[in-house]
Amino acid sequence: MPSLEANYNETQVPAYELPDLLRFENGELAQTPDDWRRRRSELLALFRSQVYGQAPPRPANMRAEVYESSADALDGLAVRRQIRLHFDVPEITPLELLIYLPAHVEGPTPMFAGLNFFGNHTVQDDPAITLSSRWMRASDPYAVVNHRATEASRGKAASRWPVREIVGRGYGVATMYYGDLAPDNADFYRDGVQGLFAPDRTGLPGAEEAGAIGIWAWGLQRILDYLETDEQADATRVTAVGHSRLGKAAVWAAAQDERFAMAISNNSGCTGAALSRRCFGETVGIINEKFPHWFCGNYKRYSGRENALPLDQHMFLALLAPRPIYVASADEDLWADPLGEFLALKAAEPVYHLLGMGGLSAEAMPPIGEPVHGVQSYHIRQGTHGITSEDWAYYLDHADRFLVS
Ligand code: GCU
Repeated sequence: MPSLEANYNETQVPAYELPDLLRFENGELAQTPDDWRRRRSELLALFRSQVYGQAPPRPANMRAEVYESSADALDGLAVRRQIRLHFDVPEITPLELLIYLPAHVEGPTPMFAGLNFFGNHTVQDDPAITLSSRWMRASDPYAVVNHRATEASRGKAASRWPVREIVGRGYGVATMYYGDLAPDNADFYRDGVQGLFAPDRTGLPGAEEAGAIGIWAWGLQRILDYLETDEQADATRVTAVGHSRLGKAAVWAAAQDERFAMAISNNSGCTGAALSRRCFGETVGIINEKFPHWFCGNYKRYSGRENALPLDQHMFLALLAPRPIYVASADEDLWADPLGEFLALKAAEPVYHLLGMGGLSAEAMPPIGEPVHGVQSYHIRQGTHGITSEDWAYYLDHADRFLVS
């Protein structure tokens, strides 16, 4: 069994060689944009079979019911909509989607789509938001009692979702509780939407079956399906954004679904933006042990055997190309390996160059609080694991340049 001790000492990082991003499995080198399309398919298939599992299909019967709306939300700054996504399968509880759009903007607006950790009602202190009745992880700060939200939970994640600033800058936000899709629990993660694709299965994910991260990514795609039908949202300019485990899911959603215009990985760490081979902070062995329901069964083969992985996370980030990818770290968040996140992004750069684009205009990690923006963007913020208004300010600046022009 691999060690569950995390290493935080740079001198103890093992020597490693990253698998070659541009080299096909047959040894040939991708040299043209067309070659990259084929290499990209190869890589997607690898991530599906070895890490995140096969992508569940788009559901045939999804129906969106806009059950609440207000043109005068957040003191007149925003339009609010609440939507239920139904699947017409009695065992599947509909998904609750919350949307804020800027109130005073003409025409379709670019959107940020992201999942939240403790229910839509935590995103803003807005009494009109439906209080989630679903199971949630225990949390005193989020006023969760007996694994359920309470009235006191309202607005508790507002610092993570600065909606007033976001709509004030002309963007919309679409969010859904990740536990609607798959409860974050190894014993019953199947109790969300998994029954739509694998009604008879039980237990941990099969060898190539999507685990919870794959299901959360699927949920982001369903948000985009809805946005395609909302005239006020510009579905061609949707950024998938996520923090930590939900950052892993956001990048995976956008990697697979080219309708997403961009992805933001906020402190996504192990099996997100960080290189697995560095074994710094959380490792593949630790994540598989602690969260056996997140990835496909095959991923467990690599616990303590990172060098046996036929891929590494630079390839994951490269799947976004030619679209923009933004990776952000926090300097005290060593569990997520900030340097490993930067190095993975840098190691994805050859794809952008192959496509005739600039890459990451920094050779080494930039100073704290000094973002590097481009088609590949990076910042490291001072502080601990989290997504803050400072992170959002950088994301909005970046979106102004790369999504609005
Ligand atoms: C744990 C887990 C990480 C994850 C994080 C989070 O720390 O080990 O992989 O990113 O939770 O989601 O906050």
